[in-house]
Order: sequence, then structure tokens, then C-alpha cells
Amino acid sequence: MALDKGKIIKLMNEGLAMEYASQIQYLTQAAITTGPYADGLMARFAEIASDEMEHAKILRTRIAALGGVPTTKVGEIQIHKDSMQAVKINLRYERDTVDFYRKLLNLIPHDEVILYEAIEHVLQDSEEHVEELERLVGK
Ligand SMILES: [Fe+2]
Ligand SMILES: [Fe+2]
Repeated sequence: MALDKGKIIKLMNEGLAMEYASQIQYLTQAAITTGPYADGLMARFAEIASDEMEHAKILRTRIAALGGVPTTKVGEIQIHKDSMQAVKINLRYERDTVDFYRKLLNLIPHDEVILYEAIEHVLQDSEEHVEELERLVGK
């Protein structure tokens, strides 16, 4: 399987827009969340936002390395003040992200080691976010 650079750059830019949206979503929630466990959740949302910032950096670097231009678009953002609603929104977003990176990883040949491992890392973090949020909502 050869690397379809144009397709990969386009998909990675979609991922980058999602990472920007997710970062803003977590940061906003880190400021406005109320309800059960709000204090602990706000602290955790702020930390997760840093992971999303790192994911965005990884994607920008890899897009540029492939000869592409990193997008400045921001994906769709959803906010809810209530802590459990916020967790549910984030969980949906993280699950979509996991599906997205799994599909992307399947399009990358294993011998594209740096790119493959970069996306694998972002996927693994996203899976960890899903796992944590699932624990928080008890499912
Ligand atoms: Fe992310
Ligand atoms: Fe995440």
C-alpha cells in the first residue's frame, strides 16, 4: 500500500480542526462547569485540553512534513454548563475521534514509521480519554 499523500493531508486537516474544537470545548468547560463533581471535572478538563493541544501540534507538524498546509479551521463545538451533560458531550466527541483516527491509521502504510506512530499516539490518547469519561458517567 502506497501513501496517498493528498488524501492523508485532507483527513489530517479534518482531524486538526477536531482537535482545535475539542481543546476550546474542554477549556470552556474548565471555566463554566457546575453541578456534581464540578471542581474535580474542571481541573481534569483543563488537563485534557493540554493533551488536545499536543495532538494539534503533532498533526500540524506531520501535515507540514507531508508538504501540506495545516488548516486554521475549527470543528463544531458543543458546550453544556451541567457537569454530567458536559462529560456526555465530551464522551461522544472522543468516541467520534477514536473512530476517525482508527480509519486514518488504516490508510497509513506501516513503513511510514514516523507518521504511523504519530497517529497511533493520538489514537491511544483518545482511547484513554474515552475510557476515563466512560468511568465518569458509569458506563
Ligand atoms: Fe485529541
Ligand atoms: Fe481527547
